[in-house]
Amino acid sequence: IKRIGVLTSGGDAPGMNAALRAVVRKGIYHGLEVYGISRGYEGLIHGEIQEMTIGSVADIVLRGGTILKTARSEEMRTEEGQQKAIEQLHKLQIDALVVIGGDGSFRGAQTLAARGVQIVGIPGTIDNDIAGTDLTIGFDTATNTVVDAVSKIRDTASSHERTFIVEVMGRNCGNIALQAGLACGAESILVPEIPYDLDEISDKLKRGHQRGKNHSIILVAEGVGSAYKIGEELRARSGFETRITILGHLQRGGNPSALDAVISAAMGGKAIEIILAKESNKMTAYVNQLVVSSPLDAAYGVRRPFNRELYNLANELSI
Ligand code: F6P
Repeated sequence: IKRIGVLTSGGDAPGMNAALRAVVRKGIYHGLEVYGISRGYEGLIHGEIQEMTIGSVADIVLRGGTILKTARSEEMRTEEGQQKAIEQLHKLQIDALVVIGGDGSFRGAQTLAARGVQIVGIPGTIDNDIAGTDLTIGFDTATNTVVDAVSKIRDTASSHERTFIVEVMGRNCGNIALQAGLACGAESILVPEIPYDLDEISDKLKRGHQRGKNHSIILVAEGVGSAYKIGEELRARSGFETRITILGHLQRGGNPSALDAVISAAMGGKAIEIILAKESNKMTAYVNQLVVSSPLDAAYGVRRPFNRELYNLANELSI
């Protein structure tokens, strides 16, 4: 019987549990033994590994977070850590590994692939910053969480006639800000991919004010810089009262949306198919509404294209 391992690594994302459940159940269905590795590469390096059963993934399909726990492993960046990881896999005779995580996690996976481990990555990060897939697990849920939060902020922004600067996650990627900003009609969206001009934004606020608009929401991707600083500069330029909300880690929690739960299950299932087909160095990808196998290398070297058309549209709609 072939034995495989599965771990979740890096920032957690809603849907990771649904992907894990699919890996475990489809793996067992096809006669594989599936081992769950706790706390990402940290748990791999330190041998925190247990066999999973059909029951060990019961009741988790819609639960946020990851029951395997996750970590960002400094040790996995070192030769020594990678060697220890390999030794643990050899000890348990695990010859294939499913890595659910973001690009840092995939980088770790590639070092194991280079040492002969059969590797399949499942893109799991709220940031949606992985090239080669239209969606990563957790992005849709996080975006919905932002939209929900902004609609609440809009209520108080409107009552008090204030400008709110709302900072969202995404690391160096503006996807959450863009999609959420368009969805909730933000007056301005600031993303790291596109330069911005605070004078222009301030003029826009003033124009809106002249038309009787009494409040505004400015969504700022964290990769742009400090929301506090931007708020301060806008207040100085426009004279409008500003407030800052940093949504932070609440964007990473919660039940996965239906879309996230579905793509997570499909990606988990596809990962098992890739393993059974004896392919390695692959990742599951969501392309044109289908979950497919794609080279892990596709996640590297190229920056995920930013949807400038949608960004321009958001600007046009928020004149
Ligand atoms: O990659 C997911 C993410 O939530 C980013 O959006 C954010 O920059 C980072 O992780 C935060 O990491 P941590 O939870 O380690 O503070």
